Amino acid sequence: MADALKTASPAPRARVQAMKEYHPPLGCRDTLRLDFNENTLACSPKVREALAAVSLGSLTRYPEREPVEAMVAAHLGLKAEQVALTNGVDEAIHVLFETFLEAGDELLLPVPTYTMYEVYASATDARVIAVQAADDLRFPFERLVAAITPKTKVIAIANPNSPSGSVATREQILELARRAPQAVVLVDEAYFHFYGETVMDLVGTVPNLIVARTFSKAYGLAGLRLGLLAGPLDLMRWVRRVLSPYSVNSLALVCLRAALADTEYLDWYVGEVLAARSEFEAALDAAGVRRWPSWANFILVEIGARHVEFVRLMRDAGVLVRDRSSDPGCDGRVRITIGTREQMKQAVVALNEAMAALRSGGETR
Ligand SMILES: Cc1ncc(COP(=O)(O)O)c(C=O)c1O
Repeated sequence: MADALKTASPAPRARVQAMKEYHPPLGCRDTLRLDFNENTLACSPKVREALAAVSLGSLTRYPEREPVEAMVAAHLGLKAEQVALTNGVDEAIHVLFETFLEAGDELLLPVPTYTMYEVYASATDARVIAVQAADDLRFPFERLVAAITPKTKVIAIANPNSPSGSVATREQILELARRAPQAVVLVDEAYFHFYGETVMDLVGTVPNLIVARTFSKAYGLAGLRLGLLAGPLDLMRWVRRVLSPYSVNSLALVCLRAALADTEYLDWYVGEVLAARSEFEAALDAAGVRRWPSWANFILVEIGARHVEFVRLMRDAGVLVRDRSSDPGCDGRVRITIGTREQMKQAVVALNEAMAALRSGGETR
């Protein structure tokens, strides 16, 4: 009996066995974090006040998301039922794919893009159709249009995209939605605040458009895990069947109210990052480092064959950056998050020293 128990360990679904493991390089990050596109400073001080006012008794209750959902929906100019809060956009992607993708379906994915689309799609029985961007990494609109088939069920567009920083226009998004009426067009606006353009106003008028937003980036609440999906009522009804009613915890709900109310802080942080981005672009140009135009709080740069050393040299100088070499079409490229102007001054010093070391041929390990 004991032997039988030992050999009969339950096998996961074949799909799960075939999934690639994904381990984001977290750990030892108490330094300048320019590797995960987070807010590099802090969230609004109003969030701390809201947290301090939380009573221990309130933690005994299950979180009640509807009132906060209604508030967020009003903030976005939508009806409460059109908005679902999620445990970060990651849960939103997961739930959306579980809701809409089944065997025989195709997920259309412009690449390179955010890793988790492929991770969650690979847990479904749908096929991922990757549509490679050209070397300029611009949104591959024509190639996407050409890749639409009757099986296309979801088109996932990060706008702005990561790691490229490039954007799809409103017209391109609308055209894709028009050409694939059988598909959900997910527009992931995780970096919306640094771009300023949105299709949120089209939610409810375009029948197959769903927009995602996160509170992990400009708002600085990545640790609380807060995101949302906004879409037409009939689609959101299905999404809610799959979504856990309790996946957003009560501390996150309390903090969300406070963060959303403090528009002054958000505007200040975004302004600071945009100013820092311009300065950093100038520094990259001066250093002769190729970069891709970015509408987000990060920039992709070309380092070349010695990208691993570059990342190590930067880390040794106290600056974490993210090697994107394993992303499709990104060999030798590194993504650098933009923080405050002060922080980016430190990054420029580290970058110039690292480039000098690489160019002199020294510093190998
Ligand atoms: C395009 C995009 N969407 C979503 C996320 C994750 O958002 P969240 O922290 O809300 O899960 C990221 C994080 O890097 C991202 O780049």
